[in-house]
Amino acid sequence: MSANIPVLTLDGPSGVGKGTVCLLVAKKLGWHILDSGSLYRLLALSAGDNTDLDNVSQLADLARDMQIEYVTSGDALGIYLRGENVSEVIRTEATGVLASKIAAIPEVRQALLDKQRAFAKVPGLVADGRDMGTTVFPDAGLKIFLTASAQERAKRRYKQLKEKGIDANLSQLTAELIERDERDSTRLASPLLAADDAIIIDTTNLDIGQVCSKVMQLVEQRF
Ligand code: C5P
Repeated sequence: MSANIPVLTLDGPSGVGKGTVCLLVAKKLGWHILDSGSLYRLLALSAGDNTDLDNVSQLADLARDMQIEYVTSGDALGIYLRGENVSEVIRTEATGVLASKIAAIPEVRQALLDKQRAFAKVPGLVADGRDMGTTVFPDAGLKIFLTASAQERAKRRYKQLKEKGIDANLSQLTAELIERDERDSTRLASPLLAADDAIIIDTTNLDIGQVCSKVMQLVEQRF
C-alpha cells in the first residue's frame, strides 16, 4: 500500500447506499473503485449452496485463487467470475446471506486482504465495505461511515428490487437486514465498525445526491 495514493473509505451497514455513492464519487474524481462486498459475494457464488463453512482452508484457497475481473463502463461496474458476467447474479439476498457467513471466517478475510489492497492505484481509490477504514486501509486519507435506520435501508432495497421487477416483501427484507447487521457487527474478525477517525454521515433523511455532495465537500477539504 503506498502512502502516496489517496484513498477514501466508505463503510457502513447493508443497504445504506455505499455502492451507489462509491460509484458516483469515484466517477467525479476519476478514481478507481473497490466494492469489497462483491469479493465476499463472488466467494459465496464460487463456493455454492452446499458450502461447508467448517472447511476453512478450502474457502481461504478459493478466496485466493478466484479468477475475477472488474470492468467499469459508464455508471456501472461489470463483475466477472472466470470470464462470466455475474454482476446481477451476485446481488441476490441468498448470496448476500452466504457472503456474510463466509465473511465471518478470519482466514478468508486474511486471504482477501492483499487482493483488496492491490486496488489502490494512482490517481486514487474509493473503497466501500465494512472494514475499509479499520482493517484494509487503516492509513486512508479520508474515512467516512454511512448510517441509516434499518427501516429506511429496507425501504430503499425494496424500491430497488421493485424497479428491477423483482418481487419483494418489505417486512421480510427488514428482518433479513437486521439479522445480517447483527452478524456483521458481532463477529470477532473485522466487525462492522466505524474507525475512530471516521466521519459519520446519517443518511436516513438524505437522498443520494445530498450524500454525494457531503462526501465531495469532505474530499475537497481533505485531499
Ligand atoms: O456490501 P455487501 O452487501 O455486498 O456485502 C456482502 C457481505 O459481505 C456483507 O453482509 C458482509 O458480511 C461482507 N462484507 C464484509 N466486509 C466487507 C464487505 C462486505 O464482511 N468489507
